Amino acid sequence: MSEKIDSAIEWATGCCAGVSDTPKLDAEILLAYCLGKPRSYLYSWPEQLLAPEEWHHFQALVDKRLLPTPVAYLLGEREFYSLTLKTSPATLIPRPETELLVETAIDLCPGDFATNLLELGTGNGAIAIALKVHRPKMNIVATDISADCLDLARQNAIDHSVTIDWIQSDWFAQIETGRKFDMIVSNPPYIPALHPCLEKGDLPAEPLDALSPGETGLEALQRIIADAPAYLKPGGYLLLEHGFDQQDAVASLMKASHFTDINCKLDLNRLPRVSLAHI
Ligand SMILES: C[S@@+](CC[C@H](N)C(=O)[O-])C[C@H]1O[C@@H](n2cnc3c(N)ncnc32)[C@H](O)[C@@H]1O
Repeated sequence: MSEKIDSAIEWATGCCAGVSDTPKLDAEILLAYCLGKPRSYLYSWPEQLLAPEEWHHFQALVDKRLLPTPVAYLLGEREFYSLTLKTSPATLIPRPETELLVETAIDLCPGDFATNLLELGTGNGAIAIALKVHRPKMNIVATDISADCLDLARQNAIDHSVTIDWIQSDWFAQIETGRKFDMIVSNPPYIPALHPCLEKGDLPAEPLDALSPGETGLEALQRIIADAPAYLKPGGYLLLEHGFDQQDAVASLMKASHFTDINCKLDLNRLPRVSLAHI
C-alpha cells in the first residue's frame, strides 16, 4: 500500500495540525527530506506515487513529529542566517529572532577591524559561526556550560571552515580574569521556570537549561550584566537577546552596572528583543 505525494502531504498535514502551527510546511519538509529532493519537487510531481519504503519512512517521521519531536531534530539541521547548521536534542534550535542579535553585532563591527568578541551560551554555535563567516577578522571566544553543545558547535564550525575558541564555562567562570573584549553577545535562557509556554508546542522537546534560568527568567541576564563590565574594554559593547517583556528590567540592570547609551531593537514581530549598551 502506497500513496501519491499530494495525498501523503494531506494526510500528514492533518496529523501534524495538533502539534504544530505550520502543519503543511512540516509535512512538506519531512516528505522532501524522505525523498532527498527540494520542496519544489513536491509541487512539480503531486501525482507521483511514493515507493513503499519512502511512504514507510515518511509515516515513521510523522509519528515522531507527533511526540512531538521538532522538525529540526528529525532532520538534524536548521538554517540560521543562511547557514545550514547541525542541531540535536542537546541544544536549543536557533530561532529567526536571534538573527537580529547577529545583524546588530555585524553593524557595530567594521569588517577591517579584528574585533575581540565573546559569546556566552553558544548552543550549536549559530551566533558565533554566523559572525565569523560575515566578519572573518573577528577573534571569537564562544562558551557554553554544556559539553554536548560545544561538541556540536565544533562540528558546525568545521562544516563552515571557521575557527573559534570554544570554552566550556559557567558564564564567565572560565574566562581568564583581566581578559578584555570589544564586544560580548549572548542569547541566554530567559523564560520564567513556571511559564505555561514551556509546556506548549515543541518547547518540551528542547533542553530546559537552554530555555529557563530559574523562577523569574532574569537570573542569567542578571549574572551576565553584573559580570560583563570586568571583561569589556572601555567603550566595549554588551548585546543581549531577551524576552519581549524584559526590556525595562534589562535596561535597569544595565544602568546599575554603569552601561550607557542603552538601546533596544525590535524583532520581526516588532517586539523588543535585543538590548545593547556600552561601558
Ligand atoms: C537560549 S540558548 C542559546 C543557544 C544559541 N546561542 C542560540 O542563540 O541559538 C542558551 C544557551 O545557554 C547555555 N547555558 C545555560 N546556562 C549556562 C551557564 N550557566 N553558563 C553558560 N552557558 C549556559 C545553554 O546550554 C544554551 O546553549
